[in-house]
Amino acid sequence: MNLFDVYPLYEVTPNKAKDVFVFDENQNKYLDLYGGHAVISIGHGNKYYIKSIVDQINKIGFYSNAIKNPLQNELAVKLANASNCNNYSLFMCSSGAEANENAIKLASFYNNKSRIISFKNAFHGRTSAAVAATDNPNIVAPINSQQKVTFLPFNEIDKVKIELEKNDVSSVIFESIQGVGGLDQPDKEFINNLYKLCKKYDVCLIADEVQSGFGRSGDFFGFQKFKIEPDIITLAKGMGNGFPVGGVLINRKIKPKYGMLGTTYGGNHLACAASLSVLHQIKENNLMENAKVVGDYFINKAKKIDKIKNVKGRGLMLGLEFDFEVAELRKKLIYDHKIFTGGSSNKKLIRILPPLTIKKEHIDIFFKALKIELKKH
Ligand SMILES: Cc1ncc(COP(=O)(O)O)c(C=O)c1O
Repeated sequence: MNLFDVYPLYEVTPNKAKDVFVFDENQNKYLDLYGGHAVISIGHGNKYYIKSIVDQINKIGFYSNAIKNPLQNELAVKLANASNCNNYSLFMCSSGAEANENAIKLASFYNNKSRIISFKNAFHGRTSAAVAATDNPNIVAPINSQQKVTFLPFNEIDKVKIELEKNDVSSVIFESIQGVGGLDQPDKEFINNLYKLCKKYDVCLIADEVQSGFGRSGDFFGFQKFKIEPDIITLAKGMGNGFPVGGVLINRKIKPKYGMLGTTYGGNHLACAASLSVLHQIKENNLMENAKVVGDYFINKAKKIDKIKNVKGRGLMLGLEFDFEVAELRKKLIYDHKIFTGGSSNKKLIRILPPLTIKKEHIDIFFKALKIELKKH
């Protein structure tokens, strides 16, 4: 049987990884500035993480959500402590799309409405409502397009107001720093007003922190730069450092009911062990502070390079925008300089999403390589 061919692949076959480096079958060493799409938070092969997962599987790896699993309660408490989000309950699932799907569904259960407001260039996943709320018609099948979604630009609060006044909007979903869409960030004033409008019209505000969460922005959640308390917060990626785990933080005003949500795999013992160890290592190794410091260092270096037209994002969720398409440049970086970077729907933008353990010396390696390549342009 062959593989269903949906991914264009780089000619690299990693078989080992350590902290910020990935090694291929020919012992080539690559600097990982992509983190497997913002997934690697505490570094590849973190010893504490491995031990936690191994210890857990030696006890019990999985059982369904029909039994008590105190690890889920422990994770909920530690997540509240780490994020300062105390007014929420936790529902666990297994991916970012699933987290958003559940968030959109919860909002609809809560206010009995069904239209979604999403934003230009948004990416929220590939399942039913999540993909419908994603601003990319190429990945929305006819079955998904039945969902009622209105896309609006960031920072135009009057347009949001006009829609919310119609009283059929259930949720507004936003990324505090856009990922796939290319690192745009909404203004503080816009989000603060959006928050107030959602309250006024009883619309659920969903913060999609799947990519920007778990410390990547330098704060625990990217939305924490604003003065808001979203009704629902969604998590995945960095939450498990590669173990497939997602979560939904649900404001206490939304009341649970048996059967309202459910999943077989979500919140299993191994997923909890993985996520608990990620939280432990973020705190132990000051990774949020590191994301801020190394992110600022990166931004300062990037701003000194003329050929970079725009430096976007914050913390270790960054983008470099050029006035040319970057596909060839990224190939050069990977094949000639052994550096992984990310792309985005903006073809002129390189995305930088390294493990949060990255140091300034690694950033220097990247800029040295980048300067060599930019000289050829
Ligand atoms: C902001 C955001 N939301 C949701 C998702 C979907 O997550 P997953 O691929 O785990 O379903 C992604 C994935 O890139 C994302 O960046």
